[in-house]
Amino acid sequence: MTTRRRVERGHESIPLFAVEREDSPISKPMRLPPDLPPDLKAVLARLAHGVSRKAIAERAAAQSRVYRAGGGSHGIATADDALAYAFARLPATYAAAAAVFNATCESLPTFQPCTMLDVGAGPGTAAFAAVQAFETLADIRLIDANPGLRDLALSLMAEADSEALRQVIDQQSYRQGDALMLLAEAQPADLVVASYAAGELADSELARFTQLLWAATVGALVVIVPGTPAGYGRVLRMRGELIAAGAHVAAPCPHERPCPLRPPDWCHFAQRLPRSRDHLRIKGAEVPFEDEKFSYVVLSRGKPQSIDARVLAPPKIAKSAITAKLCTDGGVATDIAERRDPDAYRRRKSWRWGDSVPR
Ligand SMILES: C[S@@+](CC[C@H](N)C(=O)[O-])C[C@H]1O[C@@H](n2cnc3c(N)ncnc32)[C@H](O)[C@@H]1O
Repeated sequence: MTTRRRVERGHESIPLFAVEREDSPISKPMRLPPDLPPDLKAVLARLAHGVSRKAIAERAAAQSRVYRAGGGSHGIATADDALAYAFARLPATYAAAAAVFNATCESLPTFQPCTMLDVGAGPGTAAFAAVQAFETLADIRLIDANPGLRDLALSLMAEADSEALRQVIDQQSYRQGDALMLLAEAQPADLVVASYAAGELADSELARFTQLLWAATVGALVVIVPGTPAGYGRVLRMRGELIAAGAHVAAPCPHERPCPLRPPDWCHFAQRLPRSRDHLRIKGAEVPFEDEKFSYVVLSRGKPQSIDARVLAPPKIAKSAITAKLCTDGGVATDIAERRDPDAYRRRKSWRWGDSVPR
């Protein structure tokens, strides 16, 4: 035996929803690519036409300084600020949302949301990714406090290919205001998403925010935060509170016990995304891609399909063996496949950081 796993234990799988779509085999969930869809790219390019790239870059740099210092989106005040966010950050938060929706489709293969609530929606990033991941979405509602980002979202949605996104304008379903207030009166939705928003609330508001998000969730709640120890800390608190309230963890964890990682380690993932020419200029970057680090949790009302393990770091591929750090039902495990077991070695060659993998 040349493959070793130090800790592992199986558990049974019960699908979340009884009705399956005939054209989506459970074993092959749709993989949503990380790059922006053509309709979104086109309208962004049109909105930026004639606007000085230098000015956008300066605004984006100012926003980045605020984010790096732990601040939020309050500094995004004008239409130009919102456009700078769309060029500097939206491609990366879209890529993270795409990765998390892929994981959601894998764990909840029969989940077919019709309604979505995007909380702290900003320019509608997660909604743009969600319509690609879930073709059943027909009714999308959004909440955000920032009028500049809301206006930008409406401009982007006006020219979207997706009818569900275009309808946001006719149905006036993007509400501007404080999430805690608007969530309390929000209609529940099949899919609720808080993408890069939970980190912007005061610490004292997080528990209430979490309860309100869950109260609005009919099927699944997706929370995505920056992949920092602080972001992970928030996800852990939300996860713990909602497991206690009866939620199931659909991803990334293969269990519902306390997280086995100990500081200075923290659970986070990375999604590589291509950088457009404008993206490169605005970020003053030279490499034509970036790696967006994020932490996340997907909580569901129904029991998800169980996964054996999640890859917690880039696997180390050596000539003699592939070594992967995994989160399993029984804790953190080191999986080693030696080359002299060619089948096991070959299977693990395709493992990537963030993948759910069989044992
Ligand atoms: C970093 S942006 C993320 C935008 C978008 N979800 C994305 O993934 O690109 C955070 C958003 O959360 C919104 N936000 C933060 N606190 C909020 C609150 N208490 N009520 C409503 N919106 C809030 C901000 O206005 C901002 O648009």
